[in-house]
Parts: sequence; structure tokens; C-alpha cells
Amino acid sequence: MTTAATPRTILAAADDAAIAVAAAHLAAGDLVAFPTETVYGLGGDATNGRAVAGIYAAKGRPSFNPLIVHLPSAEAAARFAVFDPRAARLAAAFWPGALTLVLPKRNDAGLSDLVTAGLGSVALRVPDHEVARALLQASGRPLAAPSANRSGHVSPTTAAHVAADLDGRIAMILDGGPTAVGLESTILDLTGPVARLLRHGGIDRAALEAVLGAPLDDTPVTDDVAPVAPGLLSSHYAPAARVRLDAAAPRPSEAFLGFGPLPAGVTGPAETLSATFDLTEAAANLFAALRRLDAAGAATIAVAPIPAHGLGEAINDRLRRAAAPREGGG
Ligand code: TXA
Ligand code: MG
Repeated sequence: MTTAATPRTILAAADDAAIAVAAAHLAAGDLVAFPTETVYGLGGDATNGRAVAGIYAAKGRPSFNPLIVHLPSAEAAARFAVFDPRAARLAAAFWPGALTLVLPKRNDAGLSDLVTAGLGSVALRVPDHEVARALLQASGRPLAAPSANRSGHVSPTTAAHVAADLDGRIAMILDGGPTAVGLESTILDLTGPVARLLRHGGIDRAALEAVLGAPLDDTPVTDDVAPVAPGLLSSHYAPAARVRLDAAAPRPSEAFLGFGPLPAGVTGPAETLSATFDLTEAAANLFAALRRLDAAGAATIAVAPIPAHGLGEAINDRLRRAAAPREGGG
């Protein structure tokens, strides 16, 4: 599989020449990690079953988990799914951007069944990142792209994070600098009459409800509703350290992840998601901060309370997953 064929991973700044090389790798069924505005994605040709299987293998991801298909434009996306008027409105308002729409798959979509894990629906997104769109244009293929980390690890927001997890397992990593949003896309399921929020993410609920003109169904998605969103395992996004939530300050020997200025007298490894209580800055910093504190070696990372509004919903969702009991190293 891709892993065996690519003992070396090319790491390259994402200029035109590198994007052309990356597109050729994708056309050959090999895997390329690339930046999006949310997190780095691990891309493979969504029409090529071997490439999609390679994504699961490289990530060590359970294969019942469907992937998001990335496209350069809403027009390109219309080839793969049926857009009702709600979907068309949301696409017009938020694409390119951090919104993934789960829609009825078109019969002639031509996607590998592995991408959708055999479901009749497909998750589509148009990323808002120059490099991602240049790569999508150059490859001319729909790209399946989960976050470019080993399964169960924290999502990568820099090329170095990707390399730490996937070096030697994929053909190439395009370095486009740190990602701007820092959280994955918001996932909205439009296959039923009421729009359902499957995953909090880079676009907050209020913005979506304003365009839809109706409230979202946000009944929590748990592991039990497996056919709906099989990827939302509760112990996802786990650092190696334990995570203790809603901590005003660290206990002795804990690392600390703050929100706002750090409390006085903290001596262990500590940093703040945002010194100014800015939720957008906090989202962009979250995964890199967890990785740094994890690398500092504390057994537990204590995390300050984060407000539950706006992007705070998505940040708290990721933190709860990071703090969830682990099953066998997920
Ligand atoms: O920001 C993002 O969305 C990033 C970047 C790289 O674009 N991608 C990403 O992909 O987070 P991934 O594969 O890690 O997340 C896919 C999520 C999973 O939770 C999966 O269960 C859900 O989307 N999903 C995919 N297809 C689905 C479908 N047909 N029905 C319901 N959920 C679906
Ligand atoms: Mg992921």
C-alpha cells in the first residue's frame, strides 16, 4: 500500500512547483498532506479506492468512518451530491469556508464506496485556503481528506505536526504555514427535514441559523448513533496526558492551559489559549498548545473554563473529547 511504496516523505514549501508535484502524486493514487484554513488534511483521490484505503492505513483509522470530500468550488461539488434550496443557500453563504455539508450522494458521483463508508450520503466541503484550492484545481480530483494525524491524536495545525505523525507513511507534505482557524469544519447534516449539527467547528451555530432562518437540531451525537456520524468517537483528540477540565489553576505537577492571563504563581509548564479572552485566537491555538504541553511531559494537563458561546462550543467539544476516558489508545 502507499505506506510501503513511500518510505520517504517529501516535505516542501507549498509553491507552484511543489503543488504540481503533489498533484502528480495524487493522480498516481498516493497521499499528500495539505493545509486548509481549519487543520491540515491528509488528501487522497476520492474516486480511487486504493488511495482511500491508503488514508485509513496511514492514519490507523477504523475503516467504518466516512471521510469529507474536498472540492475547489460549489459548482464542482454539485457533481457529487444533491443540493436542495437550504444546501444551496448555505453553500453560497459559507463556501469557501469551514462548513461541511452532509447531503444525499448522487448515483453517478463516482466516489469510492470507502469514502462514504457505504452510506447514501456524502460529506462535502470547499476549503478557504489558496494552497488547498490550487491543489484541488491542479489534481482535478475530488480529494478525501481527514485531518492529517494518526487516529486518536490531536489534529495538526502545522506541517511539523503532520510530519510528527505521518512521516514515512505518505508521499508528501505541503507546508503552508500554521492554519488560521485551528479547529475542524462544522458538520451539518441536511439529509433530513431539520438541519442537524453533527460536529461543532469553525463556523458557529448562530451564523448557520441566521442563513437557514431556522434553529439547528443539535441533539448530541454520541457513539451510539453510529450510522449517522460514525467518526465522532468520544475519546478523539487525545493527547498522551490526562486532561482535567474547568480548572481555575493547576495542582502541583500539572501542566496548565489557561484562557485569559495566566494565574499568578504558576511554575510548571503553562500557556494561555488567549491572553485577551479571544475565542477565535483560542481556537487557532488549541491543538498546538495541547501538543506543546503534552511534550512538556506532565501526567495531567489542567484546562481553564472556556465560555460556551460562539467558537467556545467547538473548543469545549474538543476539550471534552480530549478528557474522555480512553479505550485502548484509540
Ligand atoms: O476541517 C475539516 O473538516 C478537516 C479538514 C482537513 O478539511 N477534515 C476533517 O475530516 O476533519 P475528518 O475525516 O477528520 O472528519 C470527518 C467527519 C467524521 O466525524 C465523519 O464521521 C463525518 O465527518 N462524516 C463524513 N461523512 C459523513 C456522512 N456521510 N454522514 C455523517 N457524517 C459523516
Ligand atoms: Mg480528525
